[in-house]
Amino acid sequence: MKKKILFVFGTRPEAIKLAPLIKEFQKNKDYFDVHVVSTGQHKEMLDQVIDFFDIAVDCELQLMSKNQSLNELSSKILNSLKGVLDNEKPDYVFVHGDTTTTAFASIASFYNQIKVCHIEAGLRTFDKYSPFPEEINRSIAGKIADLHFAPTEQAAQNLINENVDKKSIIITGNTVIDALIDGIKITKNYNNNEIEVLKKIISNDRKIILVTGHRRENFGSGFKNICNAILEISEDPNIDIIYPVHLNPNVKNTVYDLLSGEKNIHLLNPLNYPAFIWLMSKSHIILTDSGGVQEEAPSLGIPVLVMRNTTERPEGIKSKTAILVGTKKDKIISTVRNLLEDKKRYKEISLKKNPYGDGMASKKIVEYIKKNG
Ligand code: UD1
Ligand code: UDP
Repeated sequence: MKKKILFVFGTRPEAIKLAPLIKEFQKNKDYFDVHVVSTGQHKEMLDQVIDFFDIAVDCELQLMSKNQSLNELSSKILNSLKGVLDNEKPDYVFVHGDTTTTAFASIASFYNQIKVCHIEAGLRTFDKYSPFPEEINRSIAGKIADLHFAPTEQAAQNLINENVDKKSIIITGNTVIDALIDGIKITKNYNNNEIEVLKKIISNDRKIILVTGHRRENFGSGFKNICNAILEISEDPNIDIIYPVHLNPNVKNTVYDLLSGEKNIHLLNPLNYPAFIWLMSKSHIILTDSGGVQEEAPSLGIPVLVMRNTTERPEGIKSKTAILVGTKKDKIISTVRNLLEDKKRYKEISLKKNPYGDGMASKKIVEYIKKNG
């Protein structure tokens, strides 16, 4: 009998990282009946990904509201998924990572006594407020999950240290690398106006510093420090700062208030995935608090300065493709200037080696479920 697999995602990074896995399950039609549910925690930023990867969504819950609170969103996810799970009765629910969709889809599945498979399992900072609320969201998913697909040895070890049964942990690499490889392939035939716009902004004479950010623990003073650092860095006439601004109003309002109209600073709407990958590959340095960007950049050989005080992705720091710079203005500025001036150091940390995966994660996950599910 075919196994019924139900995917639940809600945000941009979940959809990017689940897209290759959904496709891989769909290739195995004789074994699996695949159903895809979007909570719609994100809207425009999620639609960009669904469109690019051509994901067929069976059920769209459309739950996003402007500047939603965690409580409001959580209760809507829990309530809306009950009916879906009652109707679909899947054998497995697949969730990804650490968003509110992840945590509450896990709880909803548990209440319906459906097995949960957690993709990108085992990431930890061991600080419950950093990142907030993601550290606890992924711990909730980890507590409920029946199968834990860990991207790295370290992530698997974190789960073992929490007494998770070793037999339920499978190390696969991160599906984000599968997505990146697919993304580069699909881009060749994708009509992309956003890349054309970017080509008009960038100049061969100037180095690009790409910025992204959205972490809740950086709201307020963190983002003000980051913006003030960017302002000072932008005084260098040899660089362009390109910043696709996250749509969360707590980010967008601060960033546009402090950085609009500044020379050398280009504030853009969130870019579609292929345009963002293209821009990463053209960048000299990436300044970010994003999880996914930390994982993708080493494949392109672009150094990442992580504007956070902690990271659940220590592999990049260990392999020297990323530096944890925090959110203090002076530290961000001095690290960027050091990398702009010190060619030897720049070369040392811009190596094309990726500790997060090899592009085979989705295949490994599907094979595992085929054999053991
Ligand atoms: C969410 C996740 C975070 C993930 C990030 C990826 C939670 C609590 N947070 O943060 O873990 O790293 O997504 O980007 O799960 N908005 C739009 N359009 C969109 C998306 C967001 O307008 O397409 C605005 C809305 O006003 C929305 C707000 O952003 O209410 C916040 O969205 P939410 O998903 O709650 O949090 P993020 O900061 O996006
Ligand atoms: N990304 C994108 N467009 C952008 C910025 C980022 O497609 O303008 C992609 C990026 O390549 C990565 C993912 O979005 O795959 C990261 O999402 P985000 O930083 O919002 O979330 P996180 O990874 O921190 O959870």
